[in-house]
Amino acid sequence: MRKAKRGATAKRRSAKSQDAIALLKADHRQVEEWFEQFESTRSSSRKSDLAQKICAALKTHTMIEEEIFYPAFLEATEEEDIHHEAEVEHDGAKKLIAVIEASGPDDDYFDARVTVLSEMIKHHVKEEEQRDGMFAKARAAGMDLNALGEQLAARKAEIEGEAGGGMGTRSRRSSGAGAGRRAMELLGKGARSAH
Ligand SMILES: [Fe+2]
Ligand SMILES: [Fe+2]
Repeated sequence: MRKAKRGATAKRRSAKSQDAIALLKADHRQVEEWFEQFESTRSSSRKSDLAQKICAALKTHTMIEEEIFYPAFLEATEEEDIHHEAEVEHDGAKKLIAVIEASGPDDDYFDARVTVLSEMIKHHVKEEEQRDGMFAKARAAGMDLNALGEQLAARKAEIEGEAGGGMGTRSRRSSGAGAGRRAMELLGKGARSAH
């Protein structure tokens, strides 16, 4: 009985766990697919649905990168230029996301905004994934990508759960603080192992 339970837990963990880079890349591919679908549809309701999905996914993605992956990257590599440029690109994307979320397909500029967002994200993803980009440098620096992957997945699930509604503000606040604390613990670990 005990043995079976342990086996099931291990199986669940191996099926779910991705290293940090695999998880972030999977997010990139998903959003790219939605951008392509947006471009190829003429249906206003489909456009509206896809834009909402894209914006929600990008908000979660930028949040987990900024809370967990980017600080760990900066700590491990001291690559300030790469880190700061990525943060500034996120800020630009978030402003456009807010405008898109406040408008809809009947707005003359809606398609143009989604297209420009897609171009911004394409550029940003390239900087993260290209040879000698952020992800390559993270791997080369020996960051604990498995531990970070677990943290990113946990925080992502938390944010998606909150966005789904039904959770009180109390749990929202405490879960955010928990993720921040876990990120700090991980940074501490990264700093120690680097010496
Ligand atoms: Fe990313
Ligand atoms: Fe990013």
